[in-house]
Amino acid sequence: MVQINKEKINNIAKEEIVNSERYTSTKKMTKEVLEAALTDALLKLDKLWDDVGGNFASHASVDNVYQECKNDSGWNTGFMTGMLWLAYEMTGDKKYLERAESHIPSYHKRIVEKLGVNHHDMGFVFVPSCVAAHKLTGNEQGREAALLAADHLLTRYIVPGDFIQAWGNVGDQLRLIIDCMNNIPLLYWAADTTGDKNYYEKAYNHAITTINNIVRDDGSTFHTYFFNTNGTPDKGVTAQGASDDSCWARGQAWIVSGLPLSYKYTKEGIMVDLFEKVANYFINRLPEDFVPYWDMSFGDGSGEERDSSSAAIAACGFLEMLPHIKDEHLKAVYEGVVDKMMYSLYQNYSTKDTPESNGLLLHAVYSKPGNVGVDECNIWGCYYYMEALARMLKGIKAYW
Ligand code: GLY
Repeated sequence: MVQINKEKINNIAKEEIVNSERYTSTKKMTKEVLEAALTDALLKLDKLWDDVGGNFASHASVDNVYQECKNDSGWNTGFMTGMLWLAYEMTGDKKYLERAESHIPSYHKRIVEKLGVNHHDMGFVFVPSCVAAHKLTGNEQGREAALLAADHLLTRYIVPGDFIQAWGNVGDQLRLIIDCMNNIPLLYWAADTTGDKNYYEKAYNHAITTINNIVRDDGSTFHTYFFNTNGTPDKGVTAQGASDDSCWARGQAWIVSGLPLSYKYTKEGIMVDLFEKVANYFINRLPEDFVPYWDMSFGDGSGEERDSSSAAIAACGFLEMLPHIKDEHLKAVYEGVVDKMMYSLYQNYSTKDTPESNGLLLHAVYSKPGNVGVDECNIWGCYYYMEALARMLKGIKAYW
């Protein structure tokens, strides 16, 4: 197993929270507000289902409207199915169960026929869809598809180096990316459901290689990290952030949400400490309305776009890690951060006053450097917003 670089991780700064009282002030996301937000979200999910004809939603909207797409490419079809499972869990309404189940054969076909799977995003695609199906209903086709996807993910495991290669043909570009912390729960699940420890070991090793290298000394993160052919660390480079040495907001949100998921399965205490470091960095760069700009180097007055999805993703991470935070003041701050981010998302970023939109959350950025999905609804943002509502309202922990 890969060894944790304790010295390096212990040397990472843990910032004090600046103006912590702005998070611990009166709670805004009351039960009534949460219920109103859920009602709005479900209406939009119904509209989305109708608009895409029961199929899948494009990764990003165009003028705030998603188009129909097939389940044969990309990293994000699972979020549409995942929203249906969350809706079913929250309401008990069988229509959501039937809709979610109707998607499962397409995932099975996708992994059997290897349609658009030459990448590491098996967790994003197969956990909120097929693992959810198996966990909630015992769906065997979902389990089989998810296990095939887990096996496929293992084919991207690189030795020496002990990490999962993110993009390209295996061996072409020796790098991991921060997002993969949210793909490896597929492997932890596969270990649990089969009893095969190999899945766990590879997930664990990838998580440790990631945390040993991707967090900088100030608690910010690189988006991607390259390794040499002999497995030694090379350098951090961005793909979707503003620059190699800036902090891409969604990348920081991925580590804030991914660390608690690895902690859940590994119980490595250093992950809680590291969480506090990356979380505090994230919080201290939140603008006035608590929703990050797409890169954390930008603040109010920059004129840059927000990435609302990064707030929704991070909210889920805070909610997952809260029970393990020992410092009572910090815990209260984290609870307040979730409250303020989610209230701002509901009031200022949800589509409740945008009737033409079939998304849930406006003003996200997929890739500013790539000019993709800029200031649009992004389907994972909608999913994580709904997951955070489900966690807050019903204690649902989702499927990771
Ligand atoms: N996982 C890809 C992204 O966050 O854009």
